Amino acid sequence: MKIIVPATSANIGPGFDSLGVALSKYLTIEVVKEQEEWFVEHDLEFVPSDQYNLLIKTALKVCPDLRPHHVRMTSDIPLARGLGSSSSVIVAGIELANQLADLQLSDDEKLRIATEIEGHPDNVAPAIFGNLVISSYVNKKVAKIVTDFPQASFIAFIPNYPLRTSESRGVLPTQFSSKKAVAASAIANVAIAALLTGDLVEAGKAIEADLFHEPFRQKLVQEFYPIRQLGRELGAYATYLSGAGPTVMVLADQAKEVALKDAIDALQLDGESVILTVDRHGVRVEA
Ligand code: HSE
Repeated sequence: MKIIVPATSANIGPGFDSLGVALSKYLTIEVVKEQEEWFVEHDLEFVPSDQYNLLIKTALKVCPDLRPHHVRMTSDIPLARGLGSSSSVIVAGIELANQLADLQLSDDEKLRIATEIEGHPDNVAPAIFGNLVISSYVNKKVAKIVTDFPQASFIAFIPNYPLRTSESRGVLPTQFSSKKAVAASAIANVAIAALLTGDLVEAGKAIEADLFHEPFRQKLVQEFYPIRQLGRELGAYATYLSGAGPTVMVLADQAKEVALKDAIDALQLDGESVILTVDRHGVRVEA
């Protein structure tokens, strides 16, 4: 059995802790066999291979008496780059428990568990449902709407350095004045409405106008501003910080994706660029 979970790009400008889209990079978990002790086969440095691996910790949280297995974990989602790598592991761990113990969890139950573990639903929701998900987690209640992301390309610039979410959250203000909160939420409302109606030009303007997090985080990602400038020159819809960063995401018409990627590569920044598409399925299980 294989469990496959997509990467995700959260926030998308003003949708802080609330908006996320599933993208075409994947974590794959293969269940090899039942055995005496848990063993997670992988080629990552400084990541546990026993029951302390996040995958197994999550599965055991869902079902504490799960029988140990040898599982193989492969992923092309880079760690700590703002593409939802840990959320994909959490979603895979929930699905692993679901499959091994035949729990018959609904997608909404998976979302509730994953959100409690992660603390916010913006990455785990699209990892479960695929596509674009607008969600909230307030007073321990999760709400979500899953909808089609309009046809577009995502050109990701993935820097060669990690940025821990905790560090990136540490630079955010703890309070907003009501005037600023109203403005920030109005911008978010327009971004969401424009995405829902397929108006990517209007969505792009609102995405770039975020007041919740990007103005404070830009200083952590020096590649952000030159890429945004380039995106504007070449007619991208928007450039935003993916999740907590450091990945810089350019949202553009598919016809412009190669020109944008080439132009980003020509900047010779320290990192790599990849063209991604929307994953419309979310987590899936193959026999
Ligand atoms: N919404 C989260 C953040 C995503 O921006 O901090 C990363 O976990």
